[in-house]
Formats: sequence, structure tokens, C-alpha cells
Amino acid sequence: MLRIALLGAGRIGHVHAMNVAAHPELTLVGIADPLIENALSLTKLVGGRAVKDPLEFIEDDSIDAVIIATPTDTHVDLMLRAARKGKAILCEKPVDLNLNRAREACEELKQRNARVMVAFNRRFDPSAREIYQAIAEGEIGELHQVMITSRDPGFASMEYLSHSGGVFRDMTIHDFDMARWLLGEEPVEIFASASRLLKPELAKNNDFDTIMVQITTKSGKQCHINGSRQARYGHDQRLEVYGSEGMLLNDNQRTSSIRRYNARTTESRPPLVHFFLERYAEAYRIELNEFVLAINHATPMPITPYDGYRALKLAECAQRSAETGKPVNVED
Ligand SMILES: NC(=O)c1ccc[n+]([C@@H]2O[C@H](COP(=O)([O-])OP(=O)(O)OC[C@H]3O[C@@H](n4cnc5c(N)ncnc54)[C@H](O)[C@@H]3O)[C@@H](O)[C@H]2O)c1
Repeated sequence: MLRIALLGAGRIGHVHAMNVAAHPELTLVGIADPLIENALSLTKLVGGRAVKDPLEFIEDDSIDAVIIATPTDTHVDLMLRAARKGKAILCEKPVDLNLNRAREACEELKQRNARVMVAFNRRFDPSAREIYQAIAEGEIGELHQVMITSRDPGFASMEYLSHSGGVFRDMTIHDFDMARWLLGEEPVEIFASASRLLKPELAKNNDFDTIMVQITTKSGKQCHINGSRQARYGHDQRLEVYGSEGMLLNDNQRTSSIRRYNARTTESRPPLVHFFLERYAEAYRIELNEFVLAINHATPMPITPYDGYRALKLAECAQRSAETGKPVNVED
């Protein structure tokens, strides 16, 4: 049994806590959160000790691994402290809000041979994995284009948004990682258009709510991402990959597969699953299991801090492109 502690008992911490508690090879030692009531209410559900200070678990030599589910601006510090104590680490995205800090952290983690996985959960979504596998097996020939639609059903709180680093670093970061993973090549150029159609007040953080991004790789492969912080009809998560021999399309998931026909409507279907907690529930479970497998079998972590750094780099370039209205060379 691996002894594990959870740092951060908020929205995503809740998901990790439930999955750790249900995993047959993990013992949840406890949950740390400076808002102790958050830690306490979660330990009531899943067991373990509730503490205020994450260092209590990081300094504890009997603990093998930590999950970092704290606000983004705390990730690097907690990750480095846990790595210096030899812990395996599952760290939420994004690695940091600052690219230089993320790069320096990656270098230290590499030097230490630290066992760190960055939690880009969408790579573990069963349909995304199927698409990745089909591309690898040549089912659509040479891959030419990736199209990603990524719209949230609604805004997080303004308090969360003000610390999030903006839509590209916080939300589209998942899609930047998906783009790199599916394209199989590093992007060399990004052009981003971004607007504030829903919340003009985002301007004070230089943030946006509605975005379109175009990515090109060295060989000329392309990716298009469109995103919004608020789609009234639910969590819109579609993926299309197009190649020389065909196309693969992953549509949205719904709460039921029944289609209704009557005098008023044809093919009426139930709503989309509400948000990331529901849409990616299986992906979070698989993500945790892959982390445990990599620790137990001493195999490479499936997603590394370097992947986290590269996705952040794309987010920074997209932000710069949106602010200047010009395409950005990714290596500049
Ligand atoms: N992979 C995903 O699908 C996904 C989804 C949501 C959030 N996230 C990421 O997870 C992180 C947390 O997001 P959230 O939505 O759960 O935020 P949240 O605000 O709901 O929860 C964060 C929790 O961390 C606690 N906290 C703050 N500082 C801490 C510290 N030093 N040590 C321990 N706990 C601390 C807060 O009190 C709070 O309870 C962010 O980096 C976010 O980008 C990832």
C-alpha cells in the first residue's frame, strides 16, 4: 500500500480524495488545507487526518506520495519541497503561472530524478485515448489537423479567476496539452484572438472569456482551438482529427443516449453532462491509477513537468498574441 496525502481540499481536491479512498493500493493518510473546515469536511467523507499545514505531510517520512490540488501559484513551491523529501507527486495543472519559474522548477525536478506527474486528466479520457491510439495505428493516414472545442458551462468565481492566470493558462492549457499530444510535434507558431463578450470586468486582469487559437507545427500540421468560459447548454467538449485517409470525431457526452420524437420536436436529446467533474470522472480515476502504476513499476510518469512547461509556454504565447494581435513564434 502506498501512503498518500492530499494537499488542497477544494473542487478538484474533492475528486482526488474520493478516487484515492476508492483505490485498492492507496492509503489516504490525510488532507491538508489552511481552510481547515475544507479539510475536515472532506476527511469526514474519506477518512484520514485533517491538518492546516501541507508541510506536516511533506515532512513526514512515512508518506510516499502527495497530490497537489492547491491554487496554481502554490504548485511550484509545494512540488519542490515534496521532491526534496523524495515524495512521488501528482500535481494539478498548470505547473505555475510564470514560465521562468516553471522552467527552473522543471530543471530542479529533473536533476533530482523526481517522480512527478502533471495532471492533464483529459489525456486519460477513454475517447481521447482511443483517438490517440487510432492516429498512432495510422487509421487516418497522415494527421493534418486537430480541431478542439472547449467551452465551460459557466464561470468560476471572480476570486478564483483573479488567481487563475487567465483563460489561456487556466483553461485552454488543457487544450494546448491535448494539441501537443495529438499532433505529436511541437507547435512553432500560434495566433490567438480573444474577446471579453461576457464579462468586460476581466480586463482588469488582462483576461478574456472567448478565444480562438490557431497552432502550426514545423511540418505544417495545424490545430484550431475554440473556447468560451460560458456555454449555456453545458460543458462543450468536442474533438476532431483529420488526416490523409480519414477523420475521427468525438462528440459530447450526454446524460442519456435516448432521442425523443414527438409532434413538437424531432431528435430531441437530453442535456450535455454538466461540467468537468462529471465529464471527466473516469479520466480522473484512470489518471490516478496510471500514477500509482508508474510508482509501483518504477516506469516513467506518463505526463512530465516538461509537458506542463511546454503547455504553459503555449499559453504564454497565446496571451501575447491576443494582446498584440500578431502571430507569435513559439521559440521567441
Ligand atoms: N485537472 C482539472 O480538471 C482541474 C479542475 C479544476 C481545477 N484544477 C486545478 O486545481 C487547482 C485547484 O483548483 P480548485 O478549483 O480545486 O480550487 P479551489 O479554490 O476550489 O480549492 C483550492 C483549495 O486549496 C486550499 N489551499 C490554498 N493554499 C493551500 C496550501 N498552501 N496548501 C494546501 N491547501 C491550500 C484552499 O483553501 C482551497 O480549499 C488549480 O491549480 C486548478 O488549475 C484542475
